[in-house]
Amino acid sequence: MKKLIALIIVTGLVGVSYSQTTYTPTAENLKNRQEFQDRKFGMFIHWGIYSLLADGEWVMFNKKIPYEKYSKIANEFYPHDFNATEWVQIAKAAGMKYITITTRHHDGFSMFNTKASPYNIMEATPYKKDPMKDLAAACKAEGLKLNFYYSLLDWGRKDYGFGKKIVNGRPEDTDWDSYINFMKAQLTELLTNYGDVVGGIWFDGDWERKTANWHYEEIYQLIHRLRPDVMISNNHHSDIKPGEDYQAFEKDLPGGNSHGWNSGGISNLPLETCETINGAWGFNITDKNYKSVKALIQYLVKAAGHNANFLLNVGPQADGKIQQEFVDTLKKVGEWLQQNGESIYGTRGGVIPTPEWGTVTQKDKKLFIHILNTPSQDFILLPRITQKVAGVQSFSSKQSLKWKQQPEGLFVYLPANALNETDEIIEVSVK
Ligand code: GLC
Repeated sequence: MKKLIALIIVTGLVGVSYSQTTYTPTAENLKNRQEFQDRKFGMFIHWGIYSLLADGEWVMFNKKIPYEKYSKIANEFYPHDFNATEWVQIAKAAGMKYITITTRHHDGFSMFNTKASPYNIMEATPYKKDPMKDLAAACKAEGLKLNFYYSLLDWGRKDYGFGKKIVNGRPEDTDWDSYINFMKAQLTELLTNYGDVVGGIWFDGDWERKTANWHYEEIYQLIHRLRPDVMISNNHHSDIKPGEDYQAFEKDLPGGNSHGWNSGGISNLPLETCETINGAWGFNITDKNYKSVKALIQYLVKAAGHNANFLLNVGPQADGKIQQEFVDTLKKVGEWLQQNGESIYGTRGGVIPTPEWGTVTQKDKKLFIHILNTPSQDFILLPRITQKVAGVQSFSSKQSLKWKQQPEGLFVYLPANALNETDEIIEVSVK
C-alpha cells in the first residue's frame, strides 16, 4: 500500500497516469508527438563493434562467432574519423530532422558511457570516448532530435540466457530480474545523461521471446517518470501496448506485411517506417544493392501519404565515416526536399484510400497530390473530398489545372506535358 501511494505521488507529480491497461500521456508528450510527425524524415544509424567485421549487425549470430571471441574485437574499435557534427550535417543536407541511433544492439555492446556493464565503448575499446555525448551536442546545435535505439535482446549476457526455454514468462535457469534491472539502469543513464535533445527510446528484439515477461509496464513507467516528454516505440511487430507513444513498422509501410513479421494493426499513434539504403542495417562491405534516389524519395512520399515518418538507415564504417555512396544518395534526396519539402514536412496523410497512381498529403488548407506512376487516363479522382475546392495548380509551375468537384469526389485533369517521373505534385487549395 505504501508503495502504491508513493507511486501515485510520483506519477501524479509529473502528470503521467498509468493503470494496468491504460496510459495517459502528458501535454509535453503530446506536443512531442505532433512535432515528431511534422519532422517526417529521420536518419537511422546502426553502429557498433560489429561495424569492424563489415558484415552487418547480425554478424556474431550469423557467423556463429562465440561471444568470448566476438567481445574481444572491442579492443580493435577506434573510430578515429568519427565526427558527430559531420554526421548531423549529412542528415541535415538530406532533409532529415532527427536521428535514431543504436546505443546497444543484440550483441550487447554499449556504445555509450555506462556504469551498468564494463562491456562498453569507454572501458572495452581504446577509443574511451562516448560518441553519444558528441552526437547529442551536435544534434542540439543543429536543431535535430535524438532518439536512442535500445535492444531488449542480448546474445551474450548470462542473465538474458539467449536460447533458453521460457517458462512462466522467464528464461529457465537465469536471473531474469537481474537482466531487467540492468536494462533499467542503462535506460536511466540514457535518459538523464544526454539532455533534452533526447526525444525517444526505440526498443527492438522483443520478437526473440514472445512469451517472456519483459516488465514493460515497469520499464515504460520508469522512462515516462524520468522524462514524461520522451516517446517510446517498440519494434515488436505486433499491436501497440499501453505506454507506447509511436508505432514502428520495419521495412514496410503501415499495413504492409511483405516479410511476414508485421502482424500488428495500425494504431492512431504517430507512425514510423524504417528502411535500409542497401540491404543492411550495420555496415556491410559487399552489399552494393543500393536503392535509387527515386525509390527512396517515392518511399518517403508514400510514407507521408500513409501518415508515417520515414527513418532511413545508414551503417557507418568502423572508422566513423559514412560510406560515400550513402552520402551521395542522401544529398540528392535532400535536394529534392529543398524544392518539394512543403508537400512533405508538417503534412498529414490518410487523406484518401491509397490509389494506384500515388498518394495525397495535407497541410492546413492545402492538399498535395503526389503522382508517382503516370495514370492511363488524363485525369485522377480523389474520392471522399468534402471540403470545397478553391483551385488546383501544378506545384512546380504554379499553372492552373482543370478540375471539377462532384458528389463522388474531386476530378483533377493532369498537365498536358509529361509528368515528373519521381513525383508530379499537384496542389489543391480548399476553403
Ligand atoms: C531487426 C534487426 C535489427 C535491426 C532492426 C531495425 O529487428 O534484428 O538488426 O536493428 O531490425 O529495424
